[in-house]
Amino acid sequence: MLIHNISQLVTMKGGPQRGRELGRLGLIEQGAVLIRGENIEAVGTEEELLRKYSDEPRLDADGKAALPGFVDPHTHLVWAGDRALEFEMRLEGRTYLEILAAGGGIISTVEATREADHDTLYAQTRNRARSMLRHGTTTVEAKTGYGLEYKAEIDQLQVLLDLDKEGPLEIVPTFLPAHAIAPEYKTNPDGYTQLITGKMLPSAKIWWGKNGCRKPLPFVDVFCETGAFDLEQSRRIMTTARDLGFPLKIHADEFDNLGGASLAAELGAASADHLVKTSADDIKTLAASDTVVVSLPCTPFGLSDPHYTPAKEILAAGGILALATDCNPGTAWCVNMQFVIALSCRALGITPAQAIAASTINSAAAIQRQDRIGSIEPGKQADILLLSVDDYHHIGYRFGENLVNTVVKKGRIIPVC
Ligand code: NIG
Ligand code: FE
Repeated sequence: MLIHNISQLVTMKGGPQRGRELGRLGLIEQGAVLIRGENIEAVGTEEELLRKYSDEPRLDADGKAALPGFVDPHTHLVWAGDRALEFEMRLEGRTYLEILAAGGGIISTVEATREADHDTLYAQTRNRARSMLRHGTTTVEAKTGYGLEYKAEIDQLQVLLDLDKEGPLEIVPTFLPAHAIAPEYKTNPDGYTQLITGKMLPSAKIWWGKNGCRKPLPFVDVFCETGAFDLEQSRRIMTTARDLGFPLKIHADEFDNLGGASLAAELGAASADHLVKTSADDIKTLAASDTVVVSLPCTPFGLSDPHYTPAKEILAAGGILALATDCNPGTAWCVNMQFVIALSCRALGITPAQAIAASTINSAAAIQRQDRIGSIEPGKQADILLLSVDDYHHIGYRFGENLVNTVVKKGRIIPVC
């Protein structure tokens, strides 16, 4: 299929964009893309491709702009229930960490998720996945973390594998038993850390070998934060995971700086996520590494917190910046990367071009998939969005409206309405 008459074709060609390079769009005016099967075969101007591939079936983009499909590299997609009442408690002045310490927060979603059977959990998760796709996300990272016991965590992984199999949204899983201290270990966080390193991680690796359909091992993530896992416990979990061969991620510096960002860089993690209270030293360490900084601006927005990731400092130091929704029932029930981009332009002070690069090629790097997705280049998977507008600048400028008209996933046109 030859998609032609594309007013602006944003290719993002040339790989992840570090520091001030961020925002190189690789823009082709009046462009075209040739798709063969699941992949992109050729990219160029309409004139060139219409001449070269005159016999191919055509799709007229009718002057719309095209982008690579969004890659959302940090979500907690699989959960049951909601925390709408907790949101109102926060509006009345209770803080997120206070609610967590009182047994609410993540723990209340753990209770609802443990109680839900597979079909219920699947149906609720699938609704969110479909909505993400309609808003232009073609690949999503999704974490377990509302089980906090082996079987419930594995049930969440199973939901993610099943959903990925159903498609068309592609799901990259992360195993996160270290999302909070399990309620059974409330007074013994070291005991829970020991359970994760001694039993859950080794058993999950064996389970994945049998059930993971030969996919690469999932990421392992840790919530390194006051009230969750301290630096030492995070280090133990991450080094055990690394030694078992799992790729790594971390939640760090969301509320307090415990040193998690530098730990991620030291251990070669794929990404360090949140990074609000990150120090100048941590920024330097990250910038000297290949660990991608994943900023989640919906989280402070969702918590009415005025502090956001110091994105400009991270870019000035030469860091690799990506964006994600953090979709979760506590702090940020958001499925829409277009909203993340609009918010980032205002709260992080970056341009639409930078935010789009951080939501495509750089977010693909945050989940180590930059060789397959995140840009429109020959040989890559054909994950492409046609917008309802003819100028990419409208992404970021406008908000609260879905500007995605057509989603192409692995070369197939997906109905979005
Ligand atoms: O990334 N911070 C930890 N995890 C989520 C929140 C999860 C929840 O509150 O249910 C986050 O913000
Ligand atoms: Fe998160």
